[in-house]
Amino acid sequence: MTKMTGNPFYARGAVNPKYFANRDELLRFFRENVEECINSKIVRPDNIVILGNWGVGKTSTLYKFSDILHNEMENTFSVILPLKPSICTNADIFATSLIDALFRQYSVSTPLKDKIVETIREESRVWEKWKLEKLSLSPELKRRDRRYSIVNLTETLLNLWNKLESNGIEIGVIMLDDIHYLLTEGWDGSLYDLRTDIQALSAQGARYMFVITGQTFLYPEMHELAEPFTRLFEKFEIDNFDLNGTREVIEKPLRVEGIEIKISDDVIERIHNITEGHPFFIVFIMRDLLRKIKQGRIDMEKFNESYPSIIDHLTKTKFQDDFNKATDAERETLLKIAELGEEVFTPSDIAGRSQSKLFERLMEKELLVKISRGKYRLYHTMFLEFLRMMKKGTK
Ligand SMILES: Nc1ncnc2c1ncn2[C@@H]1O[C@H](COP(=O)(O)OP(=O)(O)OP(=O)(O)O)[C@@H](O)[C@H]1O
Ligand SMILES: [Mg+2]
Repeated sequence: MTKMTGNPFYARGAVNPKYFANRDELLRFFRENVEECINSKIVRPDNIVILGNWGVGKTSTLYKFSDILHNEMENTFSVILPLKPSICTNADIFATSLIDALFRQYSVSTPLKDKIVETIREESRVWEKWKLEKLSLSPELKRRDRRYSIVNLTETLLNLWNKLESNGIEIGVIMLDDIHYLLTEGWDGSLYDLRTDIQALSAQGARYMFVITGQTFLYPEMHELAEPFTRLFEKFEIDNFDLNGTREVIEKPLRVEGIEIKISDDVIERIHNITEGHPFFIVFIMRDLLRKIKQGRIDMEKFNESYPSIIDHLTKTKFQDDFNKATDAERETLLKIAELGEEVFTPSDIAGRSQSKLFERLMEKELLVKISRGKYRLYHTMFLEFLRMMKKGTK
């Protein structure tokens, strides 16, 4: 009987690390970096910043890192803190969220020796008690000052490090996902404050590696605002996959799960061309395709049969949503962009009122991408096709 174990493709969240495709250079750098620290006490880890546009795999990479630490390395621990606007508004909330996440996650994320688990539990209890007393007693006035912090992040992390190191831990990896929220929602000087903490920890011998992710277009701003901050990190930009990467995204989950479906080469190429190698779209198409075809070989004919309904589904779940999140003025701009013959354009190509503010907002909404100074494109050509259809429909 043909084995069918269910649909391994899932486009609405980070990829399961066992299906993680490609990004070899980045994974190699990470592994070597950690191994060097494990092998020698004199090595300080390099921090890493991962930059990428919408849906290109930033969060997935962090989960893959965490999986590598868990399955391939000993005496390490890690934490992933997804930043969101509400935890970036104030230094105290930020520090508290990070330490809370540390205590919550590392006992479950790493196979740790009993002694270490016990140390962590003890520290966690001390932290909870301290938090209750200090945070609830802190005067309201001081709490309103966004910079003011009763939680001393460096001291807490250092204290924790010393305890863990004496129990044999070699490196702690702290991952902050979507660092741009610190820039857009954070207190003044938030990046400087974080830099100071990272430097102080490193100078005092705590071997924490910080891995942060952020949107590509905000990096120049981060660099300008806090140049010494960006200097602390080894920078990696992740982008759409090449054809081999696309092939791996498609074939790896099938191989890993022993699913007996064969996708023909021309279909893989077609998916690559349609999606431009964008991981979200590849996974979305594969999920729908496997929902329709559960065994055998998927050739061009079968793909073409399914394709119109997949596009329909994408339109309903993604493109329509994208369009809805734009304001009236932004929609007008989007539709004007769809009318241009060119995929790459400048704000002055769009007639009417000044476009620079609108372009900025569309970038923040991840609908526009800046490709070089003054030059932009829509985040994906499939979205351009959708806008062209809309335009036709409204005529
Ligand atoms: N290396 C990879 N291998 C396989 N699938 C991937 C990979 N990277 C990303 N994906 C797929 O792409 C989609 C988006 O990934 P992810 O959420 O990690 O991106 P992101 O850059 O964090 O997105 P966002 O900008 O929304 O935060 C997911 O469906 C995930 O399954
Ligand atoms: Mg993400």
